[in-house]
Amino acid sequence: MVGAPGRGALVRHLQSLRDEHGIDACIVNGENAADGIGITPRLADQILGLGVDAITLGNHAFRRTEIGPYLETSERVIRPANTSTATPGRGLAVVATGNGARIGVINVLGSLFLHPATSMFEVIDDLVAEARAETPIVVVDVHAEATSEKAALARYLDGRVTAVVGTHTHVQTSDATVLPKGTAFITDAGMTGPHDSVIGVEAELAIRRMRTGLPVRFETAQGGVRIEGAVIDCDAETGRASSIEAIRVSDA
Ligand SMILES: [Fe+2]
Repeated sequence: MVGAPGRGALVRHLQSLRDEHGIDACIVNGENAADGIGITPRLADQILGLGVDAITLGNHAFRRTEIGPYLETSERVIRPANTSTATPGRGLAVVATGNGARIGVINVLGSLFLHPATSMFEVIDDLVAEARAETPIVVVDVHAEATSEKAALARYLDGRVTAVVGTHTHVQTSDATVLPKGTAFITDAGMTGPHDSVIGVEAELAIRRMRTGLPVRFETAQGGVRIEGAVIDCDAETGRASSIEAIRVSDA
């Protein structure tokens, strides 16, 4: 979800989307909430107040330093698990949903371009075991640049988690599928935010930085706003996914 345009779209459409799809729990990647980069405690509370059950983050998790103390105590906002052990917060949350089920939410960073302290493959087994000790329903947000890393993680976790959902690249992929052992997967859930842009940034500013190599202050674009994401159905007893559908809804 990117900036004020993304938040506005959630304000206008999240409740009706929850009703339309019979949603029991909603997870949002919020690392671009604060004007396109980072998240503040106020914005995190605002997003949770819209009917979001958990917020995951990514490589921009700590851009707004004030989020640090918030992450230390938050039970619903998590940062990637494989950042440095010196960073505040946790990479796993178990949240209660409206229908009485509990969902384990895990957030990890891929390696390409994002330079995590540890490979996600080094930490994921323990995280999944910890989550599954609490609930069979486990969703992993794999925040990564490389499609191959996301696909490899999903295949590695097939049968052990409910879903592996990719974020970070902001472009929704057309590969939503349930893998052979019951894990739902999509390489990228897409972007809730302004699509008349370069992945959320005013195109002219992104082009100028790329053409000149000079520092350019990015601004969040405004136009072409839509909600993108994925709707996953699963069995509450086993956590096994039965379907995954990529969704896109225009804010117009
Ligand atoms: Fe990111």
